[in-house]
Amino acid sequence: MGARRGPPTPDMRVWTPTFVGVSWWRSVSAIYNVIPAQAGIQMRFNRARTVLLAFASLALAAAPLRAEQEPTAVPIVIKFSHVAAPQAHKSLAGEHFKKLAEEYTHGRVKIELYPNSQLYKDKEELEALQLGAVQMLAPSVSKFGPLGIKAFEVFDLPYIFAGYDELAKVTEGEVGRELLNKLESKGLIGLAYWNNGFKILSANSQLLGPDDVLGLKMRIQASKVIEAQMWALGALPQVMAFSEAYQALSSGVVDGTENTPANMYNQKMFEVQKHATLTNHGYLGYAVISNAKFWKGLPPDIRAALERAIAETTPVANKLARDENEAAMAEMKASGRTVFHEPTPEEMAAWRAAMLPVHDEMANRVGRDLIDRIYAATGHKPATQ
Ligand code: LMR
Repeated sequence: MGARRGPPTPDMRVWTPTFVGVSWWRSVSAIYNVIPAQAGIQMRFNRARTVLLAFASLALAAAPLRAEQEPTAVPIVIKFSHVAAPQAHKSLAGEHFKKLAEEYTHGRVKIELYPNSQLYKDKEELEALQLGAVQMLAPSVSKFGPLGIKAFEVFDLPYIFAGYDELAKVTEGEVGRELLNKLESKGLIGLAYWNNGFKILSANSQLLGPDDVLGLKMRIQASKVIEAQMWALGALPQVMAFSEAYQALSSGVVDGTENTPANMYNQKMFEVQKHATLTNHGYLGYAVISNAKFWKGLPPDIRAALERAIAETTPVANKLARDENEAAMAEMKASGRTVFHEPTPEEMAAWRAAMLPVHDEMANRVGRDLIDRIYAATGHKPATQ
C-alpha cells in the first residue's frame, strides 16, 4: 500500500481559526447566542470577545462561591453545546440528561441545550469549554488531537473493535477511564462515553474496494489516525468541521466522506452521495465533558446528582444511537438516493488489508502500549501486517 500514500500538506487541514465568544456572560449573551457559527461575521467581534474573555475567566473563578451562597435562588446554568442535528440521538440523549439533571438537583441546575453548531463549530466548542463560555459538550473522541491529546485517536484505528461488545470493554473499562482522565491536563473533565456507531464510506462513485477511493477527496474529522487511514486507501483526506460537510459534498469541494448512517441521514449527506459501502471500518463516539474547574467547583451534592444523571443517561444514549443508526439506514435505503453496497467477504478482506497497517503506522502517535492494552481488553488483535 506504500505507493498509495502521499504526504500530508498543510492545505489539507481547513480549521477555521475563529476565536470563541463568551456567550454566557449575561449582559451580552443575547447578542452572541443569535449569531450562528456559520454566519462568517464573527471577525468583527473578535476584539470585543477578547475583552469579554477576561471577564469570563474572572466570573468562572467566582462561580463555585456563588453556587454555594445561593443554593436555591439562582439556578446554576449549564450550557451544553454540540454539533449534531436537533433530531439526532445526541440531542435526544442531551434532553434525557437535562430532564434527569433538573429533577435530581430539584431545579438548582438548569441545562440549556444548543445543538447543531448553533453556538460553536467543532474546534471552537472545545476552546469555548476550556474558557468557560459553555459548561458541557459531547464531541467525538476523534477531535481531541488538535488539543494535544493524541491517545484518543486509538478509537479511530480501523477495525480495532469487532462490534459493540468489544467496544464496551474499553469505554466501560479501565482503559476508557484512563483516557478520560487525560483530559484534566487540558482543563477538562471526562464524564462518560456515549456511542454513535460504526462508520461507512460514501462517494458519488461506486466503492467496491480500495482502488475506487484512490485520489478521492474525503472529508474527515480532525484525527491523524483517520488521516493516515485515508492515505492508506490512496484518498486525499480533508479535515473539515461537521457543520461544513454537507455543503462541501454538495458543491464538490470534497468527493466523499466516512460517517455513521445516523450522521449521514441527519446531515442529509445521503442526498448528495450516490454510493456508500458498508465497510463499518471505524468507531465514532463521544466523550461527555465539562470544564474541570467548573465541575470541581460545583457544590458536592449538585455534582453527585449530575454524575448520577449522566450515568443513567449513558445506556439510554447508546440505545438511542443504535436504534437511530438502524432507522437511518432503512430510511436512506428507502429513499433510493444512495445505493448501499454490502462488501463480499473478498472485498471486506481487501478493505481490511488496506487499512489495518495504520495500527502499526500510528503506534508512535497513540502509543503502542495503549493499542496493546485495547487488544487485551477486547480479546481481539487484528492481523495488521
Ligand atoms: C463528525 O464530525 O463527523 C462527527 O463527529 C459529528 C458528531 O458529533 O457526530
